[in-house]
Amino acid sequence: DTGARLEAAVDNVIARYGDADFCILAGDLADLGHTAAYERLQRIIERMPIPVHITLGNHDDRSTFLDVFGAGHAADTGKVDKVIDSKGYRVIVLDSAEPGRVDGVLEAEQIDWLKARLAEAADRPVIVVLHHNANALHIASDDIRILEPDAFIEALKTHPDIRQVIAGHVHLTSTANYRGLQFTTLAGGHYSVGFNVDQPMAPFRRLTGPGQMAVIIGTEDRTTVLFEDFIDGNAEIALAPRKRAEDVEAA
Ligand SMILES: [Fe+2]
Repeated sequence: DTGARLEAAVDNVIARYGDADFCILAGDLADLGHTAAYERLQRIIERMPIPVHITLGNHDDRSTFLDVFGAGHAADTGKVDKVIDSKGYRVIVLDSAEPGRVDGVLEAEQIDWLKARLAEAADRPVIVVLHHNANALHIASDDIRILEPDAFIEALKTHPDIRQVIAGHVHLTSTANYRGLQFTTLAGGHYSVGFNVDQPMAPFRRLTGPGQMAVIIGTEDRTTVLFEDFIDGNAEIALAPRKRAEDVEAA
């Protein structure tokens, strides 16, 4: 039940990150892009104590999303692209959804928009968030990543300080260096996907848990991504009181 899992994510934000600057939901907000699903999402995230920024994935329907959430979510590109300037950082959120396709597409117009937003950021650190991964991960879903990512990579390389490019889509936690840039995926709130390094293109296996979010901490000299499993995470180990050496000797 992805709704119940999202509720658990919201509970975790309320409990632990009520002072965060914002949260990004990086697409695949609905399974089939239905109005009722977006209305349900809207109700669930009403409880979020911090601003929520949204973009779309391959399961979404852009016009239905915009009908429910408001046309103001679309940029000049017509896509759900946005810029968040916060505490010396620029965060650029890109909509890689393409109707009728499972892989991701960034249109030429979006690449131009990205380059302009990067130029405005000058030498400020930048984090890019989008639904589809650009880098292959040696897994079966490599053929549904960003289609022809070269223009995207070249646009990113016009900026001197891209700290992270963060995606979802693959239901897998990964971090990679690809063409000199740092790419991260997180497992997200739904099922996870197993990998097989001996047969990377074998059909993927769906696995239970975790429900995972990433906590991003940006300072001037570093950008840290911490993965938090809010479902099927680690339980704390209860430690027995430490015995003093003299008690052990007396026993
Ligand atoms: Fe996806």
